[in-house]
Amino acid sequence: MKISAKTKICLIIGDPVSHSLSPAMHNAGFEALGIDNQFVFLGARVKIKDVEMVIQAMKKMGIHGLTCTIPHKIEVMKHLDRIDKTAKKIGAVNTVINQNGRLIGFNTDWLGVITPLEKITFLKGKKVAVLGAGGAARAAVYGLLRRRAKVKIFNRTINKAKQLAKEFGCQGGSLNNSNEIKNSDIIINTTSVGMKPLDNELPIPIDYITSKQIVFDIVYVPFETKLLIEAKKRGATIIHGVEMLLHQGTAQFEIYTSRKAPEEIMRKVLVHP
Ligand code: ATR
Repeated sequence: MKISAKTKICLIIGDPVSHSLSPAMHNAGFEALGIDNQFVFLGARVKIKDVEMVIQAMKKMGIHGLTCTIPHKIEVMKHLDRIDKTAKKIGAVNTVINQNGRLIGFNTDWLGVITPLEKITFLKGKKVAVLGAGGAARAAVYGLLRRRAKVKIFNRTINKAKQLAKEFGCQGGSLNNSNEIKNSDIIINTTSVGMKPLDNELPIPIDYITSKQIVFDIVYVPFETKLLIEAKKRGATIIHGVEMLLHQGTAQFEIYTSRKAPEEIMRKVLVHP
């Protein structure tokens, strides 16, 4: 073990947190770059009411980086010294860095959505159906619009889709909107449908999917959701949810270390945890 008193601590906070793959993913990255003497990544179960205290402790103890999961992503914003423009617009912070006692908040979730898509397509002008209107949808919609895609939001609760669409200047509607979803180039599921225990369910009827589409499900438990299995059968190109987890993580790794993240090593941790 190369950890010493000089090693910088990065911490993921959540409630619960023990299921998180972030520590293993980041530590594998530190080791691959030979910087596991400089950085270590741990997890701490923190109740939402104690977030403020943790932020104070982060300053006092000189903790280097803080990763936040839901619902801490929103709570933490109240207690930081600065929040970057992107995180403000998305309305959530998943990454905090300690710069000489000043805590700065960022959001890398949108890169988790955009980067896997940009590896296989150009987003500008593409018609994208975002399923869901919660926190994950906000990061997706922000990123897609920043890349000049044509975004429509579809949600079970239509009003929430319309509200989010209004805020970001795009369109929103119902998950039953078969023609619009069928005509999109890309479908991104940001709902929790498909995640255990809803792993036998689909967010949309399977006949909305065509072989020309890219289907990205940000659910990563199970690794391949029913939506992805069915989309693959119909000939669509699929992207697994772990790609979102990976790419929000590689962007975060680069903020914490100022080094290029070793993507393949970090992916291996997620695909074979
Ligand atoms: P997150 O921050 O992970 O996006 P969230 O903010 O709770 O989580 O949002 C969950 C999303 O999944 C919402 O869009 C929700 O739809 P509603 O706004 O109608 O609640 C969607 N969702 C959850 N369960 C669903 C289900 N059984 N069918 C369809 N959509 C569902």
